[in-house]
Amino acid sequence: KKLMVAATTALALMAGGAQAQDRDLRIAFDVPYEPFEYRNDDGELTGFEVELAEAMCQEMQANCEFVIQAWDGMIPGLLARKFDLIMSSMSITEERAKRVNFSEPYYITPGGWFAPESFNTDVTDMAAMEGKTVGVQRGTTMDSYVTENMGGTVNIKRYTTAEDMVLDLEGQRLDVVFVDYPVGEQTILNREGFKEVGEPVKLGQGVGVAMRKRDRELADEVNAALKTLKEDGTYDAIMEKYFSY
Ligand code: ARG
Repeated sequence: KKLMVAATTALALMAGGAQAQDRDLRIAFDVPYEPFEYRNDDGELTGFEVELAEAMCQEMQANCEFVIQAWDGMIPGLLARKFDLIMSSMSITEERAKRVNFSEPYYITPGGWFAPESFNTDVTDMAAMEGKTVGVQRGTTMDSYVTENMGGTVNIKRYTTAEDMVLDLEGQRLDVVFVDYPVGEQTILNREGFKEVGEPVKLGQGVGVAMRKRDRELADEVNAALKTLKEDGTYDAIMEKYFSY
């Protein structure tokens, strides 16, 4: 439905004599990662980044196609031209910035710890954490953090999807999960019997749109569109819809 809107807008602009760019962009999301990108009860793709992407595409007068891509293939897929933009809550890190170009950050999310009510271990106390099983999504900043700081002490269970990780927490196959804070807040804390533990950890320099390095003009356009959406209130409106703070 939203794709049609973008296409119609472009046509309308052309009919009106305005200059409409006929350009196609493919944007990749790893779902579900609520509230960033997930499917609603009708199976439609929705979420903070999905709506932000839609608004960005309108602003850029681009026809956008949304592509579902598993997290572990995000950067390889971008470089292989399977799609042109990643908008998947990807945190800006030095290591990733060697391979891809990031837009200005459009969101900041720390990593948060979530566990069953019965869990009462201090996650920063390595002696106490010995032998505990910690779940992370493979290849995320949370994975890197736990691997670097707790490897050898805890059992790290790495998941291809955040969804499977949350299911394992519910099934008591994990002691604690370390995930982007809003995801834990909206997919774990909304369930009976779970709580947040410890302090959120700042990871990366905010979340940005990732692009191929050579697509420099695209990066300029994306940054310009994000700036406009922030200035005209669109960004805040979308934000309010998906985040409680
Ligand atoms: N923000 C974290 C990172 O950049 C995790 C993002 C995972 N995103 C997703 N859609 N599954 O590593």
